[in-house]
Amino acid sequence: MPRSPQETESLFDAWAATYDEDVNRPTGLLVGYEESLHRAAAMVPLPANAGVLDVGIGTGAFARLLANGGARLSGVDVSSEMLARCQANHPSFALATGSFLQIPHPDGHFDALVSSFAFHEVSPEERPRACAQSARVIRPGGRVCLLDIMFASPAARTAAARELREQWDPDEVYPLVGDLDVSLRSAGFTGLRWQQTGPYHWAVAGCRFA
Ligand SMILES: C[S@@+](CC[C@H](N)C(=O)[O-])C[C@H]1O[C@@H](n2cnc3c(N)ncnc32)[C@H](O)[C@@H]1O
Repeated sequence: MPRSPQETESLFDAWAATYDEDVNRPTGLLVGYEESLHRAAAMVPLPANAGVLDVGIGTGAFARLLANGGARLSGVDVSSEMLARCQANHPSFALATGSFLQIPHPDGHFDALVSSFAFHEVSPEERPRACAQSARVIRPGGRVCLLDIMFASPAARTAAARELREQWDPDEVYPLVGDLDVSLRSAGFTGLRWQQTGPYHWAVAGCRFA
């Protein structure tokens, strides 16, 4: 059964204390985590001093790479414990409670929106709405980059489940590349480029219609 929003919040609140340590020696679906972050970051060309929102920022691992390149980072997350860790790691980031479906920022506010390993937390039915919310807060011509556990086809997803055995969570419905491509285009994104960044990871980058 899918998790409720409260269960998701509690799960990540409980994980926050050991999250950085865990992703430093990733297993299962997170194998290749750091390399995927670097590959995805390289897919988003950002103007100097760009205002960037990371949705599901967690402890700030992806945002850190973009901040190192000169971007000004904001972040939202459903977990207050993740946000507290992130703020301790990165005092300059502007953080707020929020989610893919409730981004607490005005229309067109950011030069780019990014996210890593968080989009699959949105239920499949709500993913088109999450893409529309993401488009809403990006200025026309601004950038998007989503990195996550994703699969090129249902067969690839089934093969991963077989490979990972007990490390596979049957309750998670990881996005398919084709479905997300359609949702992003319908939400007003264009020039989408896809890259497989890890054994179980894909990233997509593009921009909002000007
Ligand atoms: C696996 S962690 C990834 C954190 C970080 N982006 C990274 O790459 O390490 C997933 C994050 O998404 C957050 N999250 C869960 N559901 C979300 C939602 N609906 N919208 C935004 N963030 C969500 C969690 O609280 C958690 O911090």
